[in-house]
Amino acid sequence: MSETNHTNSISGATKPKPQYDPDFTSNVIKATGPKANPRVAKVVGSLIQHLHDFAREVDLTVDEWMMGVNMINRAGQMSNEKRNEGQLLCDVIGLESLVDEITNKQLVGANYEATKTAILGPFFRHGTPPTKNDTSIIKTMPKDGEVTYMHGIIRDAATDEPLQSITIDIWQCSTNGLYEQQDPDQAEFNLRGKLTTDENGYYGLYCLRPVPYPVPYDGPAGELLQLLDRHPYRPAHIHIIAGSDKYSPLTTQIFDKSSKYLENDSVFAVKDDLVVDFVPVQGNAAASLELTLDIKLAKIA
Ligand code: BEZ
Ligand code: FE
Repeated sequence: MSETNHTNSISGATKPKPQYDPDFTSNVIKATGPKANPRVAKVVGSLIQHLHDFAREVDLTVDEWMMGVNMINRAGQMSNEKRNEGQLLCDVIGLESLVDEITNKQLVGANYEATKTAILGPFFRHGTPPTKNDTSIIKTMPKDGEVTYMHGIIRDAATDEPLQSITIDIWQCSTNGLYEQQDPDQAEFNLRGKLTTDENGYYGLYCLRPVPYPVPYDGPAGELLQLLDRHPYRPAHIHIIAGSDKYSPLTTQIFDKSSKYLENDSVFAVKDDLVVDFVPVQGNAAASLELTLDIKLAKIA
């Protein structure tokens, strides 16, 4: 028998690989009815094929499968409007980052480079009140916060033309590693801003230098990290969504060049182009640091 027809048991002895019913998976996929939406039939059919292949490849046992089912159930039970454990489970296995890349490769034009994207993550909130340019998004100042003047110009990725009336949502956690909705000691919408570029494509605000923090690890995603001998930390970052009715909303994050965990982000979101430098600010008494961040957006086709 060939190598691939053997499997290793826990005792280390080699056992012959069992032969499973070769028609089983195609019968399950063929059960899809003619009225199913074609995209749903394609996506779910492929999911069934890959899940069955995976189960056969690792000779998945009922106990192991039940462990996974319990994890998914507990993720659902602990999810609410402040916590999305299902998304977090996907994040720690890199699925949100992969889907983000796939989605954006389809959206962006072939002849030019828009700013790179990164995952949304579970802490975005709709409804952040409008923020005037050059004001602060810090409503609850932490003792160890370093105020940063963050600013830049938003441009059309194809023409470099500065873009007026682009909306920019920005959010970050405080220096304790918690977003405002996770922390009763922070004011509502602390460290969240919703800005609009002026006629020169300019936006500017005062925020904090970001810090590394652990993703929530008191649930199934944390258990999985532990089972895989991994840490839960993300490198210091700020989240951004920029767009308008004419420009595809760009969801991204920028990462502090000097942060720990750039090489081993627990959710695999770091891209070299998104690593930025926080530098001492010159001639601005309101901040100690400055971050210049220009953004390039792709026009909606
Ligand atoms: C975040 O950056 O906010 C985040 C992303 C993925 C999982 C958890 C948190
Ligand atoms: Fe974050």
